[in-house]
Amino acid sequence: MTISHGACRPLVLGIETSCDETAVAIVAGGRDVLANTIHSQTELHRPWNGVVPEIAGRSHLDRIVPLMTRSLADASVRLEDIDVIAVTNRPGLVGCLLVGTSVAKTLALLASKPLIGIDHLQAHVDAAYLDRERPMPLPLLALVASGGHTSLYVSHERGVATCIARSRDDAAGEALDKAASMLGLGYPGGPAIERAAATGDPTAIEFKRGLLRDGSLDMSFSGLKTALLYHLRGPGLERPFPELSDDERADLAASFQEAIVDTLVSRVRDARLRHAAEAISIGGGVARNRRLREKLAQALGDVELIFPELDYCSDNAAMIAGLGAVEFARGTRDTLDLEVTARTIAKGAGRKRTTGNQA
Ligand code: KG4
Ligand code: ZN
Repeated sequence: MTISHGACRPLVLGIETSCDETAVAIVAGGRDVLANTIHSQTELHRPWNGVVPEIAGRSHLDRIVPLMTRSLADASVRLEDIDVIAVTNRPGLVGCLLVGTSVAKTLALLASKPLIGIDHLQAHVDAAYLDRERPMPLPLLALVASGGHTSLYVSHERGVATCIARSRDDAAGEALDKAASMLGLGYPGGPAIERAAATGDPTAIEFKRGLLRDGSLDMSFSGLKTALLYHLRGPGLERPFPELSDDERADLAASFQEAIVDTLVSRVRDARLRHAAEAISIGGGVARNRRLREKLAQALGDVELIFPELDYCSDNAAMIAGLGAVEFARGTRDTLDLEVTARTIAKGAGRKRTTGNQA
């Protein structure tokens, strides 16, 4: 079914406010991104070297309505044309999630639209389908690596991704952020490490890879961060953080990045064999990293690799709207007392929702 300007149905307006990006997008038919507006709060949080929840929530409040207006204009659609409102309701910072869900509920109520709450991590997996013209080879193996999570998922059907491995401690992005802070490279750490690493030697310092040897595919990144700390400050942490030359800093950044990338690539390679994956996708902010993309391509040349465009990797609302279309087709509907949760939860648990094919 199409509407006047030719877009496929359903036309989903997606809202994302789980952390430090305010985002609104409009996606047609679960695939065609008609608008994808994002406001990053990086500058607001930079002085604190991390996300301050109160500041994040306030900024979402300031930005969300203008972004919505812009998305509708970019897509040349009116609110009346929208079929579904999809919003991240888990996992994330509760005060931030409340801003997005409150706006989504208000829109759903005033414009009489169905409302669907979306799991942010499942949406990172679903980003592989955005703008995709060919059918997805299944099973799909998806690596989601961000500031808060590092997990591997297997999906035999769009919209249903099962977690098969995760970091037992820090997320990969969190380790990069902390390493950048120790190296005086600023915030956010991932891009800063990548920039510094460009002129460094990735073999200069041999950091241990974070691979657990217990038969699982789980990972660990906190030891790596501690290894960098001891490398800089000595075995008894007796030294203050040393002054580093640009070359030393570049070598440390390159070696640290290499250890993170090698750990992720190794786990993806093992998981691919164990789960007979036909395609592999990456998502989350760390998936923007060029060294990761390069090494995955080297290690897994014989399987379809899906590297979504950069704006679909870090937090965005196009992935929320895309997954919203899948849930809509399945008959998922939430009610106006949709709750938010800081953690990801078993599908459907703790949520006010009805299912069935009602609009
Ligand atoms: O998915 P995301 O935008 O937000 C979360 O849900 O956390 O991911 C943010 C994380 C941060 O830790 C940031 O340092 C990292 O992604 N990141 C990168 C790059 N760009 C962002 N890590 C490595 N290389 C990058 N180019
Ligand atoms: Zn995310």
